[in-house]
Amino acid sequence: MADSDNVSGVEIQLDQVTKRYPGSREPAVRDVSMTIPAGKIVILVGPSGCGKTTTMRMINRLIEPTSGTITIGGEDALRLDPDTLRRKIGYAIQQAGLFPHFTVAQNIAVVPGLLGWNRSRIRERVDEMMDLVGLEPADYRDRYPRQLSGGQQQRVGVARALAADPPVLLMDEPFGAVDPITRGNLQDELLRLQTELRKTIVFVTHDFDEAVKLGDKIAVLGDQSAILQYDTPEAILANPADDTVAGFVGAGASLKQLTLLRVRDVEYPDIALTAVETRDSPGALRQRMTEQGRTYALLLDERGRPKRWVHVRDLSSATSLTSVGRPVGDVVSTQSTLQDALEAIIAEGGNAVVTGSRGEYVGMVDIRTVTDAVQQLREEHGDAPEPTGSAAS
Ligand SMILES: Nc1ncnc2c1ncn2[C@@H]1O[C@H](COP(=O)(O)OP(=O)(O)OP(=O)(O)O)[C@@H](O)[C@H]1O
Ligand SMILES: [Mg+2]
Repeated sequence: MADSDNVSGVEIQLDQVTKRYPGSREPAVRDVSMTIPAGKIVILVGPSGCGKTTTMRMINRLIEPTSGTITIGGEDALRLDPDTLRRKIGYAIQQAGLFPHFTVAQNIAVVPGLLGWNRSRIRERVDEMMDLVGLEPADYRDRYPRQLSGGQQQRVGVARALAADPPVLLMDEPFGAVDPITRGNLQDELLRLQTELRKTIVFVTHDFDEAVKLGDKIAVLGDQSAILQYDTPEAILANPADDTVAGFVGAGASLKQLTLLRVRDVEYPDIALTAVETRDSPGALRQRMTEQGRTYALLLDERGRPKRWVHVRDLSSATSLTSVGRPVGDVVSTQSTLQDALEAIIAEGGNAVVTGSRGEYVGMVDIRTVTDAVQQLREEHGDAPEPTGSAAS
């Protein structure tokens, strides 16, 4: 089936949208035009006060634009009745914004209730949404927001935003108020949900790392929501449009790219000399190592899984391979990000073992693997090649 067949989201277009708040000399948002593709996550990122919230709230008309047009799935949003429009657009905000005197179930049921769904359908939907965001309905349905942790409140906020199955979801720093670990979990869950739901999601954050992790595209905004750059995370990291964007991307742009690549995307050469600990003899292994000029060999169990590294000098006195060597430390899998691989490479002192889906040895990565991958990303995204020292004369 074609990829696009599963998309439930719709395209959003902003055309020369401006918002001037009454009594302000300058518009808060000036002349913004952008297309938000159907079924994608687009991140608005930029400094405090640059107009992110204003831009987002004009999409569901919690704020009325002063001029310009907004279309949602081809329909002119400014011609629709605002209440009808809002029911088609989920909205989740920082601190979850739950109604304190409503239970979790009542909070999630708000929009389905407004849409006139019958009680059994609403009840079913509430449970389905709670499952979706990882809250056991029987335990949490009847609690009040104050009886939940911050992360749980955010989950309810997301469940509420999704309850009426809107094609569009607006999220304004939805994970801004939780601790970094919970935040990472909520981000992972959103990505997992999105692979199923394929909504059009507009997501505001201050945090460029969050933008890189979640965004299919990132719009880096300056004053009055001026679009400084609107592109994929890869392209922005590799090639920031100007110094302001570069400043926002921050230090370590190359390192951030490492979270975009997985070990399976790069070469992991099968370069270790291996032996099966229960099958091979120390003497035979020692001879192979000497012939090949190797200092270390990797010992595997019978199913090919890495166990220990052994130094050639430990083999002369050994009677069996099961009693020599030091355990393999951090290993990476082909699913690991290059960021994780880099950590393992550093922890392991220069290179790390790569394992396949059954934990079997498949190859090695080293620092060179990582730098080559970053270099290649640069080239793909049109960075000017670095001058090489040899050109000087
Ligand atoms: N109701 C209002 N009346 C007048 N000015 C407003 C109003 N709401 C926002 N502003 C102004 O509009 C500008 C943009 O505000 P907005 O809330 O959209 O920024 P933001 O990018 O979301 O900021 P933050 O990252 O701090 O949430 C700011 O200068 C703000 O002071
Ligand atoms: Mg804001």
